[in-house]
Amino acid sequence: MIKKDNVYNNPLEQIVDFKFDEKVANVFEDMLKRSIPGYALSINLIGLLTRKYFIADTNCYDLGSSLGASSLAIFENIKQMKGKIFAVDNSKEMINRSKAYLKSNENVEIVLLNEDILQTKIENASIVVLNYTLQFIPKEKRDLLIQQIYNGLVEGGILIISEKLNFEQKENELMTNLYYDFKKMNGYSEMEISQKREALENVLIPETLEIHRERIYKIGFSDFYLWFRAFNFASFFAIK
Ligand SMILES: C[S@@+](CC[C@H](N)C(=O)[O-])C[C@H]1O[C@@H](n2cnc3c(N)ncnc32)[C@H](O)[C@@H]1O
Repeated sequence: MIKKDNVYNNPLEQIVDFKFDEKVANVFEDMLKRSIPGYALSINLIGLLTRKYFIADTNCYDLGSSLGASSLAIFENIKQMKGKIFAVDNSKEMINRSKAYLKSNENVEIVLLNEDILQTKIENASIVVLNYTLQFIPKEKRDLLIQQIYNGLVEGGILIISEKLNFEQKENELMTNLYYDFKKMNGYSEMEISQKREALENVLIPETLEIHRERIYKIGFSDFYLWFRAFNFASFFAIK
């Protein structure tokens, strides 16, 4: 049974930086569904993109895999072909919990790695997913990470990135307010919303779509497509 997210449901004396610890891992399925507009649909569509771009006998990487939702969507779409999926997360609580969902079959081995994605060796990859993970990587390390991914992709391989986005002031205010309305609609109180916002302030650092696009082209990808957006949450993919 899915446990309800009540991490910020009581007034806290001191708000500490958000961590992907046991408390969060326990309720993460519910947190994702109620906190990211379009989350379930975007996971299904990552499966669909995988079906189109996966190349047999290559690797797939789910970087910041949490409970393994993207890995599972990838697996469901390649399980008749030969390939390997690496689900990588530096939270041991997330990796431990994802073991229950992620099982290899005779064609596709799923490898769980409890490590920093900046240390992950990316090679022979046709699908790499950063589903709401890049935003947690320090800004100054993002170019390096995307470069490492680019180097490890085969020609025709893709990088799928989902992120919370920043906009210019007017649009940012509107999208942020609509996003808080979305959270209220999903049962979060004003206090939960504001305590979580504070906890994430120094941890989740969004960028604009233009910055993402520039980085992708600067590193050498040939194409960049925005394929999904709901308020200030979006997903795009880049082709090598
Ligand atoms: C918002 S969650 C990702 C959700 C997941 N991709 C999904 O689609 O369900 C971000 C995840 O990235 C992980 N993470 C953050 N920084 C990381 C790093 N440097 N290396 C590995 N994992 C990291 C966190 O532990 C967390 O599980």
